[in-house]
Amino acid sequence: YGKIGIIGAMKEEIALFLEHMEQVETTEKARIQFLEGLLHNQRIVLCKSGVGKVNAAVTTQILIDTYGVDSIIFTGVAGAVHPDLNVGDIVISSELMQHDMDVTALGFPRGTIPYEEVSLFVSDERLKQAALDASNELFPGQVQVGRVLSGDQFIASRDTVAKLYSELQGTCTEMEGAAVAQVCAMNSIPQVVIRSMSDKADGSAEVNFAQFTLQASENSYRIVDHMLKHL
Ligand code: ADE
Repeated sequence: YGKIGIIGAMKEEIALFLEHMEQVETTEKARIQFLEGLLHNQRIVLCKSGVGKVNAAVTTQILIDTYGVDSIIFTGVAGAVHPDLNVGDIVISSELMQHDMDVTALGFPRGTIPYEEVSLFVSDERLKQAALDASNELFPGQVQVGRVLSGDQFIASRDTVAKLYSELQGTCTEMEGAAVAQVCAMNSIPQVVIRSMSDKADGSAEVNFAQFTLQASENSYRIVDHMLKHL
């Protein structure tokens, strides 16, 4: 796998990686810290992108250009969109879309980026399978592979989340994955997004997010840790 970029948006999402990494060297670019080192003897570059698609996109391009990563794994929490998902459950990305890309006024379907060939960014088969194997072993019966929807919005309404499911066939929703995936596609770099559910993106989302983000972040960390151990 060469060198793997590992991105989390918030400090909770990268904390356990920091604790377990070895030979860490820290550098900074665009106010983002990049930590190079080893996890289970695999070379990784860990970083906290910050929240949202712009932060995620900039971080991803720097990981590729400056740190020369060969693949990217995003680890963290999300709001559940599929009705069968509960807090703590796992979603592995099969593909990602920006749910807030809306040029419907010009006749483009919702989520479609105008004048480009693709709007649905597909995750790498090998990374996806490795993530799925690790997830099934650690969290049997709690894992879905599906479409990750990203947007610069924290979703906290039953109506909105119902539409993300019925109109865009989302499995979970978060604020970075599709931006990472688009930049990866532009650079021909493989990616996968691994998310554990902190909430159900409904009227209880704010409370649940505060309550369950640490636990969900740990779930996602354990999957990546297990993946790297068994590469
Ligand atoms: N990340 C975790 N929960 C989320 C939600 N409900 N909406 C957007 N991003 C999230």
